[in-house]
Amino acid sequence: MRTHYCGDLRTTHLGETVTLYGWVDRRRDHGGVIFLDLRDRRGIVQIASSPDQTPVSYPVAEGLRNEYVVQVTGVVSKRPPESLNEKIPTGEIEIYADSIILLNAVNQQLPFVVSSHEAEQVREDVRLKYRYLDLRRARLSQNLQLRHQVVKAMRRFLEDQEDFLEIETPILTRSTPEGARDYLVPSRVNPGEWYALPQSPQLFKQLLMVAGMDRYYQIARCFRDEDLRADRQPEFTQLDMEMSFMGQDEILDLNEALICHIFKVVKNIDLPRPFPRLTYQDSMAKYGNDRPDTRFGLELVDLSDLLGNCGFKVFAAAVSSGGSVKAIRVPGGNESISNVRIKPGGDLFKEATEAGAKGIAYIRVRDNGDIDTIGAIKDNLDEEQVKTLLQRTQAEAGDLLLFGAGDTATVNKSLSRLRLVLGEQLDLIDADAVNLLWITDFPMFEWNADEKRFEALHHPFTAPHPEDLDDLKCARAQAYDLVMNGVEIGGGSLRIYQREVQEKVFATIGLSQEEAHEKFGFLLDAFEYGTPPHGGIAYGLDRLVMLLAKEDSIRDVIAFPKTQQASCLLTEAPAAVDKKQLKELEVASTYIPKVKVED
Ligand code: AMO
Repeated sequence: MRTHYCGDLRTTHLGETVTLYGWVDRRRDHGGVIFLDLRDRRGIVQIASSPDQTPVSYPVAEGLRNEYVVQVTGVVSKRPPESLNEKIPTGEIEIYADSIILLNAVNQQLPFVVSSHEAEQVREDVRLKYRYLDLRRARLSQNLQLRHQVVKAMRRFLEDQEDFLEIETPILTRSTPEGARDYLVPSRVNPGEWYALPQSPQLFKQLLMVAGMDRYYQIARCFRDEDLRADRQPEFTQLDMEMSFMGQDEILDLNEALICHIFKVVKNIDLPRPFPRLTYQDSMAKYGNDRPDTRFGLELVDLSDLLGNCGFKVFAAAVSSGGSVKAIRVPGGNESISNVRIKPGGDLFKEATEAGAKGIAYIRVRDNGDIDTIGAIKDNLDEEQVKTLLQRTQAEAGDLLLFGAGDTATVNKSLSRLRLVLGEQLDLIDADAVNLLWITDFPMFEWNADEKRFEALHHPFTAPHPEDLDDLKCARAQAYDLVMNGVEIGGGSLRIYQREVQEKVFATIGLSQEEAHEKFGFLLDAFEYGTPPHGGIAYGLDRLVMLLAKEDSIRDVIAFPKTQQASCLLTEAPAAVDKKQLKELEVASTYIPKVKVED
């Protein structure tokens, strides 16, 4: 029987006989003594075997190769001073193996070196195909263990300190509107009808409040068929919560305590409370987006009033057509950022134009305080305007001002993108900082220009601000997002719990009464039977763990993730199915495979 994990052994175990199980991380033959690094999920420990000291295990040790699975028994001893290894926690000890039992060998060429000693860069598609080997490696193994610690901390806090009930909700369900496309599942017993996989447990958790459960949570799998990115997977995990009889401040307060608990338990970090709060409007004005990375400055300054009536046509046109002129001050940018980078063909120009801008206007503040500009800006500003401009942007000698002008959404998008790129390039971001903030007071709706209708910014069950009920289209929502270092890690809202308000919101997003009833009749009906005021939130567990693990992609904190093409390279899902299965389901594919033209 196993007595210890390899990675747990220390000098406190000296003299103990231990039995370990693990994989051979690497094997070194030092002419007479064979050293094995034995690995399990807790780490590595050195095993030794020699013909003199351990004659029984030596022949077995000789035959071992990387990734063989073995059982080892021996006494923990102190390493001689010359072979101490400060880099690993078990570096002061070794185990002379009285016995080594080979449990299984490797019969194929390994696709990559698993050992963490070799910092081998392996292509992600190869890692995903052999995910079980990738997960043996220290980085991913530690990420999954960290993920477990995070979930454990969540459960302990919610269950033991706050009396939340964990309740499961259906996976085969109706469409839950979170704004993405649904994954559909045909029903064999109800031919022609389809389940949708939940985009979130939103409606069920609200019904659980109607049912009097009071405080619900679930580590819930969600499914969204949307364009994938580093922080988006087609199936991902939420910590999903819902609470009755609590206002927004109480909900945010409880959630701050939860997040602080997680950081303390998992990282031993004491986060300052309360977390800062910023309204959506202020966030858009200052950072150009609703998930600002507040670890660095480079904030946007709105200059529409000052520059809207200057003679520079680009600025004047932007403001007269209802748009904005905004600027970012780059300290020291006169020196560090060349014109080549700002003009067509340059990397900053590319960033801005990819975000929809036509280009970047700029002003250089020379060392003597003179300003120098692209084209016509300078000629069209009088002395007073230049002075105010420098004052409002706090620009000093040696700085660079980058301008965005046009419709406000594009200006915000392009400048916020430039801000992030510059923050990184100029090394303004402290990688160890943890900046959490709440974004509040989102608008209820945004205009979908393609479909020519309003759609809910959060989801249509979010309660409007009580002061804004008269003009719902412009109303603020009682919604909040938690943002960490520029990543949206959670979002929630107070919910509508009165049928009339819910019907009004459905009407605003263009759902007729019949459609609303057809889709959400069960919810509207439930509202008639005594619904408590309630609200909730859901966290992207994958994103939170990604940030805690300091990874750049959620794929590195998910055991079996999908690629950008939504496929699993390990199991090769999605895959074609038998005609028989389709027939049983009474489903026929209309897909016509593209014929490859040979040349
Ligand atoms: P929302 O849609 O904002 O809210 O989702 C909550 C959080 O889930 C994470 N997230 C994702 N993570 C990985 N891949 C994805 N495709 C993905 N989509 C979202 C984000 C996000 O903040 N029902 C509401 C919550 C509520 O109102 O209580 C909801 O799902 O971190």
